Amino acid sequence: MDTRPIGVFDSGFGGLTVARAMIDLLPDEQLIYVGDTGRYPYGPRELGEVRDFAIEIAQYLVAEHDVKMIVVACNTASAAALEDLREEIDRPVIGVIEPGVRSLLEVTETGRVGVIGTVGTIGSGAYQTLVAELGPERDLTCAACPGFVEFVERGETRSDQVRVLANRLLAPIRDAKVDALLLGCTHYPFLARTISESLGRGVVLVSSADETAFEVRRILEGSALACDAGAPDRQHRFLSSGDVDWFEELGRRLLGPELLQAEAVGWDQSVDSTRPRGGSSDRHETN
Ligand code: DGL
Repeated sequence: MDTRPIGVFDSGFGGLTVARAMIDLLPDEQLIYVGDTGRYPYGPRELGEVRDFAIEIAQYLVAEHDVKMIVVACNTASAAALEDLREEIDRPVIGVIEPGVRSLLEVTETGRVGVIGTVGTIGSGAYQTLVAELGPERDLTCAACPGFVEFVERGETRSDQVRVLANRLLAPIRDAKVDALLLGCTHYPFLARTISESLGRGVVLVSSADETAFEVRRILEGSALACDAGAPDRQHRFLSSGDVDWFEELGRRLLGPELLQAEAVGWDQSVDSTRPRGGSSDRHETN
């Protein structure tokens, strides 16, 4: 039995949707979560820069916490870095894109499907390529949703402003009359009600969080990596490169009581200190 923790990371709070699903599905495993809130959002950044961040965080998780596996709980980082991470890191590396696409293709009945994500994720073409490969007969409509991530990072998931933004950004998805929509950003499940109200009840929302947790379980099951029932009760750890108090407060609201406390983590390269941290009133829609 392998009692080492599983490393999970995202640009901020979004990956907590994946962490939640993993905690529920794999109660014997311990997680070390890194929210890179000091450098969020990843969505508008160059993919090469996001790739460097992802490798830095993964190497940190291996070197400092001896994680047995890495879950890239961020679509933008998965699109930018999954292949490179698998070359650089000598542990299993799981992304969120493929599990999400498989689930999307399973649930659609009409064959008209949608994916929403950050500018970086949609612009990378990762979803378009994978849907073409796994479901070439499907009719795919993609839309980038700049601004959604910032609303979540501020803890603002049900305001009038986010509703107005959702109605505007989701127009191409509504027009395409999809019957299934993949939330291709791990922050978006926190906006699920708003998104669903905007699209109507006929559209099934697919979150990659649950599918990714199932994928992790599939890899652990029957392998020497799994931590069996009966392992000593260990607490999950949550690290933030930004405002730790805000991470603890909003993170606990979003994830639940398992987030007892947040700890600080820093990187060698300088953090963009010009960007206001969590809890600010920054309203730029850059992502
Ligand atoms: N939650 C991340 C994703 O899945 C990144 C959001 C961001 O930082 O722009 O894409």
